[in-house]
Amino acid sequence: MTTTPERERTRAQIPQRTLRLDNWLAQPIVTASILTAFIVYAAYVILANDHYASGPYLSPFYSPNLTDVGMHGWGWVSWPAWITPSILIIWIPMGFRFTCYYYRKAYYRAFWQSPTACAVSEPHKKYTGESRFPLVFIQNMHRYFFWLAALLNVVLTYDAVIAFRDYDGRWGHMGLGTVVLIVNAALLWMYTLSCHACRHAIGGRLKHFSNHPIRYRLWTWVSLINPHHQRMAWISLIWVAFTDVYVRLLSMGVISDIRFF
Ligand code: FES
Repeated sequence: MTTTPERERTRAQIPQRTLRLDNWLAQPIVTASILTAFIVYAAYVILANDHYASGPYLSPFYSPNLTDVGMHGWGWVSWPAWITPSILIIWIPMGFRFTCYYYRKAYYRAFWQSPTACAVSEPHKKYTGESRFPLVFIQNMHRYFFWLAALLNVVLTYDAVIAFRDYDGRWGHMGLGTVVLIVNAALLWMYTLSCHACRHAIGGRLKHFSNHPIRYRLWTWVSLINPHHQRMAWISLIWVAFTDVYVRLLSMGVISDIRFF
């Protein structure tokens, strides 16, 4: 009896790469373009170490503010100059997004071609999924990054509240920057709370929901936003970059804040 090789048992035996007739390449190209643009911009911001605060506004890339720059700095401990304050923080949101179930799908398709799209043969000879080191270890960290990201959201919410202070420190100010920071915090909460690990932390490992009415109620709320996680992943990512651009331009004096009251 002849045995069928693994590759032949798991893949359709057709000569074409795919039989799909739609423009299946469009989505991975768009994904790769946006992610690359964000990564390049984020790398610049993280290493630049300037123009991240303006009056009561703080860029999310530098929050919590470990320096004494801006109005609500937490004080700066001396570090080698090449370690920017952002480097000390950014591994949390980066780790959270890198291990996110949705982003995994996005970058496996866009960058690793594993596979490029559904029903499209991948170029790799072997497929091991996430069953081996380092992926099996790194991707399992997601559930812990979730808690760290939630903690960071508390700080970003604090930043948004602080943005109701005026440039001289008095409360009662509201400018366009305040709105930008509030929307940023809200979107990051939506992205974090719609996370699959969050849904599991709240409603998972229970035998009977009837014995846990509060967790059941929370689980139903999280389940409402969970289907929108992909959308939240994109919108919140773009808004984080936009928030930094806004604060940066204010700090550089290129634009002025629009003041509502
Ligand atoms: Fe996307 Fe957790 S943040 S699944």
